[in-house]
Amino acid sequence: MSGQKIGIVGSGLIGRAWALLFASAGYRVQLYDIVESQVATALDELQQQLQQLEANGTLRGNLSAQTQFELINGCTQLQQLAKDALHIQECVPEQLALKCALYAQLDELLEPQTVVASSTSTFMPSLYSKNLQRRSQMLVAHPLNPPYFIPLVELVPAPWTTDEAVERTRLLMLALGQRPVVLKREIQGFVTNRVQYAILNEVWRLVSDGIISVADADRVLSDGLGMRYALMGSMETAHLNAPGGVRDYFQRFGGEIAAVSATYGPTPNMCDEAATLAEVARQCEQLVPLEALEQRRAERDEFLIRLSALKRQLP
Ligand code: NAI
Repeated sequence: MSGQKIGIVGSGLIGRAWALLFASAGYRVQLYDIVESQVATALDELQQQLQQLEANGTLRGNLSAQTQFELINGCTQLQQLAKDALHIQECVPEQLALKCALYAQLDELLEPQTVVASSTSTFMPSLYSKNLQRRSQMLVAHPLNPPYFIPLVELVPAPWTTDEAVERTRLLMLALGQRPVVLKREIQGFVTNRVQYAILNEVWRLVSDGIISVADADRVLSDGLGMRYALMGSMETAHLNAPGGVRDYFQRFGGEIAAVSATYGPTPNMCDEAATLAEVARQCEQLVPLEALEQRRAERDEFLIRLSALKRQLP
């Protein structure tokens, strides 16, 4: 399917990241933004990013940076973007009203072969596609930032999305070298944020109850559980942790897991717990002062680049 046309709506952080991914696999990319000057800025930045990736040896795909750049073009009209598109990736800001207005416009322009995927991290696809005639061609394809180095994409169908649209998007993500997971039906928070919030809730409660410091709670993940989780998930970890596999694991430890889980407190509402928030912020700012956030983000990205290279070497 490489060589076919991909449309990207919204040329901010995530729209640009998708442009790089699609071009790396040889797709022709058209980039559209409601702010026309944004597209020119995005193209300039993409050219620099591609050259940088090539110079660092981290460029994806088999094509040169220049060839990949030549696959990406700007466009000034949504109508032009929708014409002959195989797939449209929507990357406009996370505001429901804005997304609804855009999807209503797209609904009039979509051709029967085009699938539209939203990059949204929070909105279930039924929220913006409910009343549209082309709603069976719409779903969510939620990446994690930075998508160039984190391969996961969550595919979330609305109740009316066709299996074919989901499967085509899954195959497209695989063709890019991403690692899609498919939710069988939509649910608030999808799966990534549901798991992430379960961790945040428990760490919040432990810090709030004075059991552990923020730094040590974070080390439980970065120096402990996360070391395994970069390779395998919680179920396979359990499977490996008992002589007879996962059945044995839950038969042995299920009672203990239930007993500990029964001691978790109520779900915290972080915006209403001012004292804990002040304490969490104080400790986080000791770890990384606000003026050092940018530098720490750069360290995180550098680490992800190296981790992603390491993972690619593994079988
Ligand atoms: P951004 O603010 O960097 O870029 C949004 C772009 O959309 C801007 O260039 C803006 O001019 C343009 N835009 C606004 N209204 C438009 C319209 N009607 N038509 C065309 N273009 C329009 O936003 P960002 O961070 O790239 O987020 C985009 C989507 O990706 C959001 O849904 C967000 O939840 C999702 N996402 C963001 C992640 C992140 O870390 N930033 C991670 C995963 C998903």
